[in-house]
Amino acid sequence: MKKIALVSIFIFTSAIGGCREKENQPQVILKLGHALDIAHPVHKAMVFMTEKVAEKSRGRMKVEIYPSEQLGTEKESIEALQLGYMAMTKTSSAPLEGFISKMKIFGIPYLFRDSEHFWKVLKGPIGKEILLAGEKQGLRGLCFYDAGARSFYSKKEINIPSNLKGFKVRVQNSIMSIKMVEAMGGSATPIPFGELYTSLDQGVVDAAENNPPSFFTSRHYEVCKYYSLDEHCMLPDILVISTRVWNRLTPEFQRILQEAVDESVEYQRQIWAEAELSDLKSVEEAGVKIIHPDKQPFRDCVKKVWDEFADTEIGALIKEIQEVQ
Ligand code: GCU
Repeated sequence: MKKIALVSIFIFTSAIGGCREKENQPQVILKLGHALDIAHPVHKAMVFMTEKVAEKSRGRMKVEIYPSEQLGTEKESIEALQLGYMAMTKTSSAPLEGFISKMKIFGIPYLFRDSEHFWKVLKGPIGKEILLAGEKQGLRGLCFYDAGARSFYSKKEINIPSNLKGFKVRVQNSIMSIKMVEAMGGSATPIPFGELYTSLDQGVVDAAENNPPSFFTSRHYEVCKYYSLDEHCMLPDILVISTRVWNRLTPEFQRILQEAVDESVEYQRQIWAEAELSDLKSVEEAGVKIIHPDKQPFRDCVKKVWDEFADTEIGALIKEIQEVQ
């Protein structure tokens, strides 16, 4: 954990404990750490959220964003939230699986029919239940952000799953991602996002997988010249607040924060759609070959992941999600 993360509790505690009532002077400062670059559409949406918080609270509440793993990796940040050292984090659903079992659902490959189905589920009762599933673990989900679909990129072409044989594929800190890559024949290697550029460059891993804005803004395309759009998973990004911190906010500040977050979701969905297209174009212009493989052989390989969860809580959730029309 980087030093700066520890500072957040000091400011937060003193701010919450104080009884300064002046407008335009923060009474509460919430530190938010995440892994993405500032050019990423999810970061931009969170900046929008901080502006809304400042506006709605007339400067009495402030959210400070620390991008690019400055406060630690996604796993470290989740742990810091549990302890109340950091107020908020934005993480992929994948590392949350280790803390909240229900999050594994997003790691079921090819679960959602399309983006419309994905949002119908996330905005409905199932999504709400998943956001609050970590309250006992000290983690309260505030919203989902669109993180599109993830696809493989590599130094060599991937057209069919057997191309992954003998490949070390970087995955997130997630048991579901490991299962998926292994089902497709690759050898899964968990590495934090911030270390991935060097790992690809130095050949520690041969491939990775992500959505177009993350592939572009991380500059991984400088090393990986093949992007194979198999779109195996739709893992949402999730904004999470420490339950300890949330419970210490006044009802007014809780309302302001949630409203600002909800407005940022609408904004993010708009800019996401544009970013996906333009970032794909940008990597292509930078010399990346975009491959559109037949998805069926990839689907066939991961059927065993579905089967493994058939008689579990995740299996029941799969059925519920499939029934959402
Ligand atoms: C996505 C996601 C990040 C995550 C990254 C990863 O870009 O938005 O939160 O860190 O994937 O692969 O690690």
